[in-house]
Amino acid sequence: MRQVDPTLPSLRTEGDINLTSHRAAFQAAHIGPATQALLAEDAACFLHQAMSTPCLNALRGAQGAWIEDLEGRRYLDFHGNNVHQIGFGHPRVIAAIKEQLDGFSFCSRRYTNEPAVRLAQKLVSLAPGDLRRVLFTPGGTSAIGIALKLARAATGRFKTISMWDAFHGASLDAISIGGEYAFRHNAGPLLPGCEHVPPPDPSHCPFRCGTTCNRACADYIEYVLEHEGDVAAVVAETVRNVPVIPPPDYWQRIRAACDKHGALLILDEIPIGMGRTGRFFAFEHFGITPDIVVLGKGLGGGIFPLAGILAREALNVAAEKSLGHYTHEKNPAACAAGLATIEVIEDEKLVERAATLGAKTVEDLRRRLAPHRLVREVREFGFLLGVEIGGPAAVDAAERIMYACMRRGLSFKVSKGTVLTFAPPLNITESELDQAWTMLEGAIREVSGK
Ligand SMILES: Cc1ncc(COP(=O)(O)O)c(C=O)c1O
Repeated sequence: MRQVDPTLPSLRTEGDINLTSHRAAFQAAHIGPATQALLAEDAACFLHQAMSTPCLNALRGAQGAWIEDLEGRRYLDFHGNNVHQIGFGHPRVIAAIKEQLDGFSFCSRRYTNEPAVRLAQKLVSLAPGDLRRVLFTPGGTSAIGIALKLARAATGRFKTISMWDAFHGASLDAISIGGEYAFRHNAGPLLPGCEHVPPPDPSHCPFRCGTTCNRACADYIEYVLEHEGDVAAVVAETVRNVPVIPPPDYWQRIRAACDKHGALLILDEIPIGMGRTGRFFAFEHFGITPDIVVLGKGLGGGIFPLAGILAREALNVAAEKSLGHYTHEKNPAACAAGLATIEVIEDEKLVERAATLGAKTVEDLRRRLAPHRLVREVREFGFLLGVEIGGPAAVDAAERIMYACMRRGLSFKVSKGTVLTFAPPLNITESELDQAWTMLEGAIREVSGK
């Protein structure tokens, strides 16, 4: 099954694993003694782990689209771990949290509370179809975990089909369905029954579909569903954050195949839900409704850890099991933050803005970057933007561009080794966007020597 073309670009380079020499050069030139001291203390007390500790830099502030480091340098943050649909520290969210903290700050399990019920109702009111049942968790990974448990309970099956190269969290169940080499490699035995299939990505397609997806990857999912015969769920990110956008009928085919073979469709919209793509739920672009959708990240307003699932009414079938049972599953302060966040998204019309400003900014970016031969492609899905760097030393160039941007005051993430990924807050000003793209142009010029 895994006959991947060896000539395809390797997927084994995770953008967060910094090429160490560029990182060291950035730190040597940029990080002063006070920051160095804090970084050393951090490295001395936290467990070291890839992509996290030791840290790159230390922050002392985050407001709107900006983060500020310990030495007062400000960066437009177009990564923000995808929590900042409404920017950092939105005053309405802060006010709602403060009010909640002054009133009632924690709710023990077995009890409910007003903010938790109102947030669940709000999400249900925004969801199409009969996605009417909600469960919150303190993080995206645990929300994926309850989606998997619910699929087992509802179908009496345990197998899953998920995608190579996908990310669904770092716990053992999440990496079992995840497809990133960096997380799975040397992890030991993972969950049984986790089948993996190729994602709809023409640039890495083992079916050699070329530049246009021929849906062979969708047909293959149906093939596996049929041959296994007892798959509980297909689990996938609706659109991989990079962004690589499946063809319009891709999800309709998968939806139909799941229905035919009795499997649930679970869509992970943890980083891209809540408006980023120009629809509140990304799956709305594809004219389907999943059985379970998973939200997280910005759900807590970029302040509280909060995630959750919305499931179809018919999936309310596990009353005797503890699907989640998390201590903070109805945390009133987190839920107050979530409610205020959605109110901001609605009142500031940020879903519509993601669509219109995303379309406008991608045109601007394409025009600005057209003269640069290092830039292979600029793509967008709402306000999720990707600039793919090409050429023989693309991974190195992408990393150098990232640090050149950081020196100028623009922070973002490199994905799949060569894609500069930008997720600006949906309420960013046009002048901040202009500043960011000017910094990007300067960085690309610097790295290409022109
Ligand atoms: C697509 C996707 N799923 C799941 C997760 C896990 O969420 P969390 O880090 O909140 O556990 C992430 C986090 O980056 C993600 O991007």
